[in-house]
Amino acid sequence: MSVHIEAKKGDIAETVLLPGDPMRAKWIAETFLENPVCYNDVRGMLGFTGTYNGKRISVQGTGMGIPSALIYAHELINDYGVKNLIRVGSAGSYQKEVKIRDIVIAMAASTNSGLNTIRFNGADFAPTASFELFQKAIEVAKEKGIPLKAGNILSSDEFYADEFESYKKWAAYGVLCVEMETNGLYTVAAKHKVNALSILTISDSLVTKERTTADEREQTFKEMIEIALELA
Ligand code: ADE
Repeated sequence: MSVHIEAKKGDIAETVLLPGDPMRAKWIAETFLENPVCYNDVRGMLGFTGTYNGKRISVQGTGMGIPSALIYAHELINDYGVKNLIRVGSAGSYQKEVKIRDIVIAMAASTNSGLNTIRFNGADFAPTASFELFQKAIEVAKEKGIPLKAGNILSSDEFYADEFESYKKWAAYGVLCVEMETNGLYTVAAKHKVNALSILTISDSLVTKERTTADEREQTFKEMIEIALELA
């Protein structure tokens, strides 16, 4: 076992879907995977391995924010040999054209987190998606007729910003939406030469102040998971 995951070596597949919410991990495993087996319950951060169309795939909750997500990404890569990390999460829209229920792929992830300036001694690093997974996701979405948007996103350290309007600066530079993990995930994947991709559904809009209902979230979540599972 690793520090935060009680799985044995070989229990976790090379491709892992990463929702923030551990109960989402359970729902994904029970809804989409055949013969899912739970390999982790440490801190309630559930992880499962099963098969999808005959291919082995795992799904692991990460918690919210870069520090929590990176604990799981680091251990999955270093202790369990994971090669493809696919975040499936929600995000808040920063643009009028990015509507609630849209699916957004993060080509790159900006951040207000201090983590990378610590890592790079005050300099910036521009973390990007795996080109291979990105290209494949575009193909799968096209085949399934699921519309996608793609571009730069913000991984924020705060859900409740002190100044609500501060999002407008990011929006002016074309950032599509905000979530809290991708910048860290792409950075760690780059360091260890593995693939990472974030697929996000828009759950709320900072522009229009709309929010999806629980039913709407489930439906768009399904489309996003269908794309992610095909990347295994
Ligand atoms: N995830 C979903 N909506 C969000 C928001 N408004 N801010 C940060 N993360 C989010």
